[in-house]
Amino acid sequence: MTELKDRYDRKHTYLRISVTDRCNLRCLYCMPEEGMTFMDQESLLTYDQIAEVVDTAAGFGISKLRITGGEPLVRPGIAGLIAKLKSIRGIEEISLTTNGLLLGPQAAALKLAGLDRVNISLDTLDSARFRFIARRGRLDKVLEGIEAAAEAGLGPIKLNCVLLKGVNEDEIGRFLRLSAEKPLHVRFIEYMPIGHDDAGWRDHYLPLTRIAEEADRLGLSYEPLPEGPAGNGPSENYRIVGGAGSFGLIHPVSNHFCASCNRLRLTAEGDLKPCLYWVDELSVRPALGSPEAMRELFMKAMRIKPENHEMAALLAGDAQSHVPTGRRMSQIGGVGGE
Ligand code: 5AD
Ligand code: SF4
Repeated sequence: MTELKDRYDRKHTYLRISVTDRCNLRCLYCMPEEGMTFMDQESLLTYDQIAEVVDTAAGFGISKLRITGGEPLVRPGIAGLIAKLKSIRGIEEISLTTNGLLLGPQAAALKLAGLDRVNISLDTLDSARFRFIARRGRLDKVLEGIEAAAEAGLGPIKLNCVLLKGVNEDEIGRFLRLSAEKPLHVRFIEYMPIGHDDAGWRDHYLPLTRIAEEADRLGLSYEPLPEGPAGNGPSENYRIVGGAGSFGLIHPVSNHFCASCNRLRLTAEGDLKPCLYWVDELSVRPALGSPEAMRELFMKAMRIKPENHEMAALLAGDAQSHVPTGRRMSQIGGVGGE
């Protein structure tokens, strides 16, 4: 089998598939509160078209898929899509990133369709603050979603917590304790400058060194985990000594998670993105119906994949070598997967 290797010898085995840019929340690090415009339903890839892309990807050794959005569960029929993708030869694992609001009623059906695991976004454990960060929805619905996912066997469950200076940094200890008390993996994610003006990002950016400081301050001892919970990806993983769960740090900005990047992205409209940060994308539409053209497209993605995203250069105020994407995170499919 031809492998998907890029110019830096990184082997690609993981595809993130955004199924919609729509969302039932408006998280402040992701979207403005009002005035979002979304893609027309007609411009989304159909589930059959997504399956066609995945068929080619699987032929190249892509074995793991993640379904993302926007919020994937706002698009009807996700369980059907999962069943279709799971039946493709070579696809071993499918996970889903969700804000959890619609997960409660769907968790069992998703599991039955072949979904293996979920990552749930959770930036606060305080319901008033939830409304401040997400601007809509309700924390208790998300907590119900987490419970339902655990009951349905969609574990190990990972919680994605974007750390925001002056907003939720006082909850680091609460999240660390949660990771000790429950069999949950809490992933702290650095706030990334995507789909935002620079100033707003700098105001809330906080490096993840804060987590260790806070653990030390609270007298919580922790130990590194050699292996993360299933599919560890770009995260450094730890456990509070004796804890039921674990926690991880994802430093997209300050550290290099690019060196071990094994992923490609497919946007809801059908653009293959070699890197989440840069503008480059390749439309799969002209290749639909032609397995040969689709294979060529994946190989081209390998040829153009950049070495890294240079967000650290942005943080340092240095010039970047290339053009950052103008897309929002909800159009790219988020971070903190695997
Ligand atoms: N910075 C970091 N993470 C982000 N996400 C969305 N926008 C950003 C951003 N600007 C992540 C959150 C969410 C997932 C879908 O994408 O972790 O859980
Ligand atoms: Fe929706 Fe996720 Fe963006 Fe929040 S981060 S607005 S839940 S897509």
